[in-house]
Amino acid sequence: MRKQQVSAGTLLVALSIATAGEAAEVNRMDFGKLADGSPVEIVELANGSGVSAKIMTLGAAIYSLNVPDRNGKSADIVLGYATAAEYLAKPQYFGATVGRYANRIRNGQFELDGKRYKLETNDGPNHLHGGLRGIDKVVWKIDSVKAGSPASVVLSHVSPDGQGGYPGTLKMTATYSLSDKNELTVEYRATTDKPTVLNITNHSYFNLAGDAGSSDIIGHRLTVFADAYTPVDSTLIPTGERRNVAGTPFDFREAQTIGLRVRDGRDEQIRFGRGYDHNYVVRGQAGTLRPAARVEDPASGRVMELLTTAPGVQFYSGNFLDGTTVGKAGRIYRQGDALCLEPQVFPDSPNQPDFPSARLDPGKTYTNTMVYRFSTSR
Ligand code: BGC
Repeated sequence: MRKQQVSAGTLLVALSIATAGEAAEVNRMDFGKLADGSPVEIVELANGSGVSAKIMTLGAAIYSLNVPDRNGKSADIVLGYATAAEYLAKPQYFGATVGRYANRIRNGQFELDGKRYKLETNDGPNHLHGGLRGIDKVVWKIDSVKAGSPASVVLSHVSPDGQGGYPGTLKMTATYSLSDKNELTVEYRATTDKPTVLNITNHSYFNLAGDAGSSDIIGHRLTVFADAYTPVDSTLIPTGERRNVAGTPFDFREAQTIGLRVRDGRDEQIRFGRGYDHNYVVRGQAGTLRPAARVEDPASGRVMELLTTAPGVQFYSGNFLDGTTVGKAGRIYRQGDALCLEPQVFPDSPNQPDFPSARLDPGKTYTNTMVYRFSTSR
């Protein structure tokens, strides 16, 4: 079946390319224009079990993610803006693919093969999420879309040599696939023509209560499959230590309610982050897909498991959401309204010889794969 749909709202034309009998379908739709006239598109992946994901070409971002609760009622569990233009006007990395180096680099500087590189400093003294024009702020190209199970979309972007101060032309793809088992897989791949450093991740803000912003995530229960985390200084740069979580507010080896310790002002690390804003050392072998975290909203019953191939995962409890952003459902986002779990190499790795390397050489392919698996609890 190949059909054209015209939807009622601002989303103009949808091209449905599902074939009869296939569980999952793909719709392509226009999503307005940026101030410079560039068109933004959305590709929607939908399966037959009530899960659907809208992927936006601006920032190769997850624009919305609808997931059923324990009664089968689907709701959007990620934060975002109503229009594409707002993503550039006030970047908060909602759902975005971030890089070239996600997270922080101390003083925006690093050395590679004896040469010092200077990046933009856009977070106090540090470099954050690729600087002023990171890969979240460019419109990615749609390379292909595929219906069926999994339904998928491949986006690509080429970041020129020297962009934001980084060496090497970086060719990247972001592949989003939705299976009929309610798994959304995101795979980032990149190659370079000069030695460089990179760290590409997805920066979705989750709130499993749905229709993001209607309540906070303080009652969500979190498990992080990690025995250690990397403590930071007051500018949120790791000190280099791997600290055992035992006996600290960072212990999520067993499921814990986030709100229990997020305000524990006796802990300097919680004070530095104004809550959780820390990288965990995920148990097991980096490069193999293994559990990183599990989040459960006891009220709706929605459960999200995150699997990763990355060495670490940043847990951020939405501490800097300050009520100045109106989200796509017309609500303002306040502190603790969502949480991020960002699979990645550790922050500031280019300056930390004991951390897993963030280096990519010509002839090699970088990959970072993450799976968000959805189910419900009783
Ligand atoms: C960082 C936070 C930062 C946020 C910006 C997170 O990945 O850890 O410190 O404020 O991104 O959206």
